[in-house]
Amino acid sequence: MRLPILELRSVTHVFANGIYGLRNVNLSIASGSFVVLAGANGSGKTILMRHLNGLAKATTGSVLLDGVNILENLAETRRRVGLVFQDPDSQLLRETVARDVAFGPENLRLKRAEINRRVADALAATGLVGFDRRRPHSLSGGEKRRLAVAGVLAMYPDVLVLDEPFTGLDWRGSARLIEVLLKLHAAGKTILLITHDLDKMLAHANRLVLMEAGKITADGRPEKLISKVENHGVRRPPGTILSMTWAT
Ligand SMILES: Nc1ncnc2c1ncn2[C@@H]1O[C@H](COP(=O)(O)OP(=O)(O)OP(=O)(O)O)[C@@H](O)[C@H]1O
Ligand SMILES: [Mg+2]
Repeated sequence: MRLPILELRSVTHVFANGIYGLRNVNLSIASGSFVVLAGANGSGKTILMRHLNGLAKATTGSVLLDGVNILENLAETRRRVGLVFQDPDSQLLRETVARDVAFGPENLRLKRAEINRRVADALAATGLVGFDRRRPHSLSGGEKRRLAVAGVLAMYPDVLVLDEPFTGLDWRGSARLIEVLLKLHAAGKTILLITHDLDKMLAHANRLVLMEAGKITADGRPEKLISKVENHGVRRPPGTILSMTWAT
């Protein structure tokens, strides 16, 4: 049994206006696992993600990374847990693509040669070779999304959390991103993929977690849960996916 790398313990989040974003959520993510988190709009997926590196703070309960409360070392948590947000514009910070990807590694105070290597690797992994000098805001929606992924990859995170990463990507962009995620997973990274669209990744996941109204309402092997997802507000993927081989 692999140890949990990330753990939410009885996390409840109440927004300033009194709305409950999360209600007593317990979730333990094993190191090296590939988890898909699904749920209808407003079920709490994004607010859960924001707790994983301290961007949102639990009203009650705690979040642990390798058994240690993340509030004890937020900088380390943010290096090790890379978040790719639903809105890629929110993650574009610099005036060129290359400088944008270099932002994280520069904050780690790495040597210039190491930064350059990471930038080149991240751009290659996301299909953005040749985009180095482009202005991030001049990129297409799909390219911006890949740039946001590149910026997180350059941090060499142990856990990668992506919020609806396929939105706006064409089939090639989606296929490339899936390939990147599978490679990272094969290299031992922990992946948490948030989506309400199960078609693309479920065949590769070894766990499916379903949320409704701020609670986890189902959690288990994808092949066991797939027939019930529509009871949890998530569309069941078309038939073909059911005959695909499941990840172990
Ligand atoms: N800043 C906020 N203040 C008050 N309520 C909020 C705030 N942000 C989110 N919420 C509410 O919290 C709930 C969960 O929102 P969240 O963004 O986590 O949903 P989601 O599952 O990511 O949905 P989607 O699939 O649409 O992205 C929703 O009911 C939402 O309206
Ligand atoms: Mg969301």
